[in-house]
Amino acid sequence: MKEYNAAVIGCGRMSRGHAASYQSLGIPIVAAADISQEALDFARENYGAEKTYTDYRQLLAEVKPDLVSVVTAELLHCEMVVAAAESGVKGIVCEKPMAMNLAEARRMVDACKASGSKLTISHQRYYDPQYTKARELIAQGAIGKVNFIEAFAMAPSIITDGTHTIHMTMSLLGDPKVSYLIAQIDGNSDYQYFGHRCDHGGNAFVTFKNGCYAHLTWGLHTYGEQGRIHPKWNFQRYQYHAFLVHGETGILELDGDFRYGGSNTEPLELLRIHRCGEVEKVDHKWPMEKGSIAMEIQDLIESIENDKPHPLSGENGYAVTEVIMGIYESSRRRGVVHFPVEVMDNPFLDMCESGIFPG
Ligand SMILES: NC(=O)c1ccc[n+]([C@@H]2O[C@H](COP(=O)([O-])OP(=O)(O)OC[C@H]3O[C@@H](n4cnc5c(N)ncnc54)[C@H](O)[C@@H]3O)[C@@H](O)[C@H]2O)c1
Repeated sequence: MKEYNAAVIGCGRMSRGHAASYQSLGIPIVAAADISQEALDFARENYGAEKTYTDYRQLLAEVKPDLVSVVTAELLHCEMVVAAAESGVKGIVCEKPMAMNLAEARRMVDACKASGSKLTISHQRYYDPQYTKARELIAQGAIGKVNFIEAFAMAPSIITDGTHTIHMTMSLLGDPKVSYLIAQIDGNSDYQYFGHRCDHGGNAFVTFKNGCYAHLTWGLHTYGEQGRIHPKWNFQRYQYHAFLVHGETGILELDGDFRYGGSNTEPLELLRIHRCGEVEKVDHKWPMEKGSIAMEIQDLIESIENDKPHPLSGENGYAVTEVIMGIYESSRRRGVVHFPVEVMDNPFLDMCESGIFPG
C-alpha cells in the first residue's frame, strides 16, 4: 500500500470513528476543519491533527490531503464533497445520508468523476459480519432464489437512519435496479435531526427490475404505548433494523446490529434460516478484526490504486438517495413512482414548506 495522509472535515461525534479508523490503518490525520474551536482542539489532541482550520476550503487549498472524510451534517455534504473533488483529493469518505436531494447527489458524483476522485458513502454496516454472512448465504443459494425481502427499521426517519436500511435491503438483494415504488410517510410532527425537518415513519413497497420486491417499514414510535408503526417491536432481539429474506427454499431471518463491548461480550444469535418449520441457527465470525469504517477506507484505497469498484461508491449512494426521494415523491404524488426518479427537489421538505406537513 502506498503512503496516504488524511484530513477530517467536521470534528463532532462521528468523526471519532473516522479518526480511529485512519489511525488503525496507520494513516496520519494531518489536518482538521470545523467551525467550532472546541472541536478543533479535540481533533488536535486526539487525532494528532497538527493543522486546524475554521474554513475547510483553506484546508483543502493549503494541505492538499490525499484522503478526506466529510463528517458534517448532511446539509453540507454536497458543497464539501464537490470542493474536495475540485481540489484534487484522491479519495473522499462522505457520511450518510449522502445528500438532501438528487440534484446534490448528482453534483457530487459528477464532480468526483470529473476530478478522478473516488467517493464512498458511509453505509458502513455493509462490512459488519452478520450482514456479510447473510450476503454469502444468499449467494450460496442457502434459501434458493430470493423473491422478497421485508425490512423493519426503528429509525425515526427514512433519510437520516433509514438510508442504512435501504442500503442493506438493496445489498442483500445484490443491488438490483428499482423498477417502481409506492410509499406513504408520516410527516405530522416537527421532528428535526441534523438541522432539518425529517419524516417520522412510513411504509414503502419497492419492485426491482430483476423481479424481486421489498417492503420497508420504519418509524420512531416502534414500541410502547405510543406505538404507531410496530407497537410490539422487540428491542432485545432487534437493534437498529431487522430483515426477513424470503427465498424459494427458506427464509433468512437477520436481526440487525450488534455492538461488541460493554456487557455485550457474547454475540447474539443474529442469523437464522427457517425451512419448513425447522430453524437453523447460523454462526458468523465475531468479533471483527477491523472496524467497518476502516474496511470502507481500505476498499477506498484499493479503488484508488486498482480502479476497483467500491461497494459503497458514490453511484451506490446515489441509488439509495433515489429510493429515499422516490419514497418522498410517492407520498407527494399519492401514487406510484417509476424509476429513474426525475424530481431534483426534496419532496418532503417541499410538503413541509407548502403546509401539507405543518409540523
Ligand atoms: N454512518 C453512521 O453510522 C453515522 C452515525 C452517526 C452520524 N452519522 C452522520 O455523520 C454526520 C455527522 O454526524 P455527527 O453526529 O458527527 O454530528 P455532530 O454535530 O456531532 O458533528 C458535526 C460537526 O460538523 C461541524 N461543522 C458544522 N459546520 C461546519 C463547517 N461549515 N465546516 C466544518 N465543520 C462544520 C460542527 O461544528 C460539528 O463539530 C451526519 O450526516 C450524520 O447523519 C453517520
